[in-house]
Amino acid sequence: MKINLANIKKAKKLLNKTECVAIPTETVYGLAGNAYSDIACKKIYKLKKRPKNNPLIIHYFNFRSLEKDCDFNTDFLKLYKKFCPGPITFVLNLKKNSKVSKIATNKKSSLAVRFPKHSISRRLLKELDFPLAAPSANLSSRLSAVCSNDVRDEFGKNIKYILDGGKSKIGVESTIVDLRKKPRILRLGGLEISSIENILNKKVKLKNKPKKISVPGQLKLHYSPGMPIRLNVKKNKDNEAFLLIKKTKKTKTNYYFLSKKGDLKEAARNLYSTLRKIKKSKFNSIAVTKIPNIGLGKTINDRLKRASKF
Ligand code: TXA
Ligand code: MG
Repeated sequence: MKINLANIKKAKKLLNKTECVAIPTETVYGLAGNAYSDIACKKIYKLKKRPKNNPLIIHYFNFRSLEKDCDFNTDFLKLYKKFCPGPITFVLNLKKNSKVSKIATNKKSSLAVRFPKHSISRRLLKELDFPLAAPSANLSSRLSAVCSNDVRDEFGKNIKYILDGGKSKIGVESTIVDLRKKPRILRLGGLEISSIENILNKKVKLKNKPKKISVPGQLKLHYSPGMPIRLNVKKNKDNEAFLLIKKTKKTKTNYYFLSKKGDLKEAARNLYSTLRKIKKSKFNSIAVTKIPNIGLGKTINDRLKRASKF
């Protein structure tokens, strides 16, 4: 996507004044603000109606810009080298003298950090003197946004500016890996666990169903289009939207396809936009076919399962 410098300048100006701006990333759009500013971080929570105890992911241009805020370890450096910028978020130990707002961290001793790949946001991050706190640009517990129109749908006039970067290429959030001790996956996402395991040369456990909920992102209802969802459906009803993994020969007006031929990357990319389309349709409930629980299918199933706790 071509970079429009005037737009980046506008976003920069607002961010310098502790305002919030929506930014494009390769996963989903983010609602960004100066991560070093309490005022900016408070605005993010307010706009999103996000519970105050749910910390924010901080976005950096590169590991040099992160050095002041976090301690690195070898697992981090290996994964950074292979996958960054890209759809992976690291949970690391926060440095005592870090400038990241305590509002953003909820006074935790850890920090979730990410290096987004989208060229527009990279350019913006390069220009700024601070990293960006940026949770997904949607109202708390709702569907994430994958284009500027989606962000507008969520926030209307309450958002000062949306930096347009087209449709997010990956379409689901980043994979979160906690690297403070033995690596653990806290959230399935756009990067497959097996890719992470291959680089670290060890098995990495999934720990996204904690006994005690430590961060609200692990709450059950999330990513919700605001209507009931039935999963693993073989026989759908005509009065509900039917979400299928691939195109069928015969189609009906209530059929919605995630991909042409069942490609799981394509399906992940289309997941939120298709759910949003259904939300705007005449249908009030959704039935979903079985989605293969492999690769990005695991992420799709995770999102649909949480969205179905309506
Ligand atoms: O792809 C993404 O990660 C997108 C784009 C915009 O970068 N961002 C995103 O942010 O998905 P959000 O806030 O919707 O989800 C971040 C998750 C939340 O569930 C939050 O609880 C968790 O990260 N989180 C934040 N700080 C954490 C920490 N210190 N330890 C563990 N989890 C943390
Ligand atoms: Mg989110």
